Amino acid sequence: MVVIKVRDRSGTLRELKVERGTLLMEALRDGDFGVEGTCGGACSCGTCHVYIAPDWAARLAPAGEDEKAMVEAIGELAPLREGSRLSCQIRLDTAQDGLDLEIAPAIE
Ligand code: FES
Repeated sequence: MVVIKVRDRSGTLRELKVERGTLLMEALRDGDFGVEGTCGGACSCGTCHVYIAPDWAARLAPAGEDEKAMVEAIGELAPLREGSRLSCQIRLDTAQDGLDLEIAPAIE
C-alpha cells in the first residue's frame, strides 16, 4: 500500500491508502475529493489538477509535453503553482509513499 496526504478544497487534511500502481487521479476520484477525471486520464480535460507540495515536486517524474501544455491551458481557469500537475499522469508506487498534495480548485 501507498499512503498519501491530501488536503481537500475545504482545507481538511486526509490520509489515503491506495494499492501500488494506482493512478493518483483514480485514487482522488474514488476517494470523493471532487476530482472528476472527465477524460479518463487522456491528459485532455484538466479536471484532475492538483498542487504537489514543494518538497515532493522534484521527486516525481517530470511532466511530459502533453501534460505541460494542458496545465498551461487550464491556467486561464484555475490558479497555477510551481507544483501544479495533472494527477492522471502520476502513478503511485512505494517511491511516492508519503506524497503530499492539495486539490486545486474545480474547473468550471
Ligand atoms: S483526467 Fe483529464 S487531464 Fe487528467
